[in-house]
This record gives sequence, structure tokens and C-alpha cells, in this order.
Amino acid sequence: MSKKEYFIEEESLSVKKVSRRDMLKTAGVGGVGILIGASGIGSMLSITEGKASSAKDVVSFYGKHQSGITTKPQNHVYFAALDVTTSSKDDLISLFKEWTYAAASMSEGKPIGELTSNEFLPPKDTGEAEGLSASNLTITFGVGPSLFVKDNQDRFGLKLKQPKELVDLPAFSLDALEEEWTGGDLCIQACADDMQVAFHAVRNLIRIARGKAVLRWAQPGFQRTKQADAKEGTPRNLFGFKDGTVNPDVKSEKQMNEHVWVQPGDGPNWLQNGSYLVVRRIQMFIEVWDRTNLKEQENTFGRYRDTGAPFGQKNEFDKLDIHHKQPNGEDTIPVDSHVRLSHGDGSQQILRRGYSYSNGMDLKTGSFDAGLLFLSFQRSPSKQFIPIQKRLSSMDKLNEYISHRGSALFACLPGTKNGGFIGETLFT
Ligand code: HEM
Repeated sequence: MSKKEYFIEEESLSVKKVSRRDMLKTAGVGGVGILIGASGIGSMLSITEGKASSAKDVVSFYGKHQSGITTKPQNHVYFAALDVTTSSKDDLISLFKEWTYAAASMSEGKPIGELTSNEFLPPKDTGEAEGLSASNLTITFGVGPSLFVKDNQDRFGLKLKQPKELVDLPAFSLDALEEEWTGGDLCIQACADDMQVAFHAVRNLIRIARGKAVLRWAQPGFQRTKQADAKEGTPRNLFGFKDGTVNPDVKSEKQMNEHVWVQPGDGPNWLQNGSYLVVRRIQMFIEVWDRTNLKEQENTFGRYRDTGAPFGQKNEFDKLDIHHKQPNGEDTIPVDSHVRLSHGDGSQQILRRGYSYSNGMDLKTGSFDAGLLFLSFQRSPSKQFIPIQKRLSSMDKLNEYISHRGSALFACLPGTKNGGFIGETLFT
């Protein structure tokens, strides 16, 4: 094979069907990088045909922005918050370099690191994603306020770089936050169309962090799968309502720049093209909801359960008319309904990308511990999430059926190019 043919074939590897098992098999001989020699390529391609993975389910890790924000929501999320245990900034930098490398690899459906056949060492990759496709895996990293200053300590000499927006969220009325679901120096949001792929990603990243950072809390989440809903309509939440109807348009650069991406002049330059992520672990009292009549349920949201249309309209995507009155003079959309309050005057828009969760039983009450892992991305928490949540926490009819049990805020770093690393703009 000529050198040219070799490179064409190597390039086409990323768009051909390649599964992790193929990589493991071939890499066992002596590592992925070493193996891709002229003779290796042919055999590699021949065993890739017909395997589960295809370029169609690979989301590129590299780019101006991190993936997993405007990416079409995958079927599952595995969210993890971490505490940094090292006090060395160099350690942090090397952690982000290793994470970048591993995340880029896993996003392509490949195992992490070179694989070893040395039976006296633990394998580099934990192996449970072997043979599985990339499954649209995205991995999104963020940094929390406590990475900058904790107990009045400027931990890594980053204090001057802390954005004004990156501070603990204020306490909202009715908050019932628990330490075990709150805060974090760092976060990893792994989303994939396969839960095992998402879990594998977080597990391996936590493993890499050993000696530098530890898991603080974690929450898996789900929505209906695309297999179950061929039309891929708006997913329904655990109260049975379509959730995610009104969101800024991720295909509109203008809207994303206005509502999601941090812009020049917004704050420190290192966060430009990044975004703020608000996480709220909200328990939903599904047993109480299930005893509530349909009219009351619909009044709670201000939308019809069946169609998802706002009151007074027919279709899900019809415009919400908050000024509309019924013939008797009453507001068509109740003043204390969730959509009316969250919509406000329509000027505060956030990109909601949440997932349902179900963690078995709440041991204190004997009811389900289930709800919404609320994840929203915004350009400015103080101008977007906070005013919305202030309105909701004081008046939302939905509060009778939910309880905010966990909370965190992270600055999701800008994306990076191949050769760079996530966090480069912050640390260097
Ligand atoms: C368990 C808690 C929650 C549930 C079950 C829930 C459910 C819903 C549902 C069913 C809708 C209507 C359909 C749609 O547009 O997606 C909606 C809309 C919305 N929700 Fe929530 N939500 C929850 C918490 C929150 C929180 C904490 C916020 C932000 C502070 C929020 C912000 C919004 C916004 C901005 C809209 C769109 C309003 C508009 O029409 O402009 N939600 N939510």
C-alpha cells in the first residue's frame, strides 16, 4: 500500500463502521497508534464491516463550543459533580489534558488510551463499552465557583479569573436542598443514546481523576428513547406532559449567541463561547400527582396534557397568549400556572436540556424518589435562570407537587481544537 492510500484509509476509518470491540481486538497486538501500520489497516477495515457503530452516531468532541449543549438531546444522561482533592494547579492542568484526550477518544467510540495486554496491569479502559457504538456520546465539562475560592482560599491562583456570574445561586423560597446533591468544583455531563456508553464515559473519567479529584454526587437520567418514539416528538416528563416545547432554536446562531453562549464583554475572556449550566435535582411527588384530577393537572401547567397545546390553542407549538381572556373575563392561562410564570414577559430564555430520573425508593417516605434532573444552559444566570426561578419559587402552582433537592452552577468551558485541551483558556 502506498503512503497516500494509507492516509486515505486511515481517514476513512473515522467514517467507516468502527466499534470499540474492533479497536480492542486490533489494539491488543500493541496499541492503537502502533498498530495502524500498512498491514494493520486492511485487517482493521475488514473486521469493521457490519458492526454496531457508524459515523452517523458520532458527535465530534472538538469545536468552538463544547458538544452536549446544542446537541440534540440523547436518550440518557449521566451527570457527575466532583470535588478537587489536589492543591496543585499543574495537576489540574494535566487532569484536563488527560480528560480531553479520553473524552475525544470515547466520543468516537474508541477505548481510552493505548490498550495493554499486560495481564499484570489493570486494563486502561474499563471495557464495558467494548463492542458498543459511539451512541452519539457527548461529554461536557464545567467548573464550579468553589474551584476558584473555597473557605476564603484562592485555591489555584484563579481568584481574579472568577466570573461575577459564577457564584452560588441564591436561596429560593421552598428550596429543600441537600448537601449530597449540591455543589461541586467540577462537573461532567455525559449524554448518549445508550446508558452503558454514558456510564462508561463518566466512570473512566473519574478513574483518570484518581489522586486529583473525587466524585461528589452523581445522577443518571433518561427520557423516552428514539426507538420507542419513531416520530421523535417532544418527550413527556414523569407527570405525563410534553416537556421541552418552548426552547430557543439551537440551529439559530443569533439566538444561541443571545441566550446561550458567553459573548465578548460579558465577563472574563476565558469563558467566551462557553455557557453557564444550572443543575437542579427536583423531586416530583408522582403519587400525589396521580391522585390529582386532569383539570387540576392541566391548570398547573397552563397546557393540555394530550396535545401539549397552551390553553386556548389547538397545537403544541401554537403561541402562548398570556393576555388572552375567557368570555367571563378570567385569564385563559392561570396566573399561577407554570408556563405563565416561567414565560414571564418572554425576554428571559434558557436552553432546557433536562432528563427524568428515578432512583428507586425515597427511604424517608416510602414513595418513589423520582423527578427531573433540570439542566439549563444560559449566557447569564443572573439575567435568565435566577429571575425565572424567583417567580416560580414564590408562586408556581407546580410547587405543590415538586421539591428542589439539589442545586449547582457551573461555567461550561469553551470548546477546543484537536491538539488543545478543555480548560486551556482558563488555566494558561
Ligand atoms: C419538576 C420541575 C419542572 C417541570 C415538571 C417542568 C415542566 C414544564 C412543562 C411541562 C413545560 C411546558 C412545555 C414546554 O415548553 O416545555 C415547561 C415550560 C417551561 N419551564 Fe418548566 N418544569 C419544571 C421546572 C422548571 C424550572 C426550575 C425552570 C426554570 C427556572 C423552568 C422553566 C421553564 C421555561 C422557561 C418554560 C417555557 C416557558 C414558555 O412557554 O416560554 N421549569 N416546564
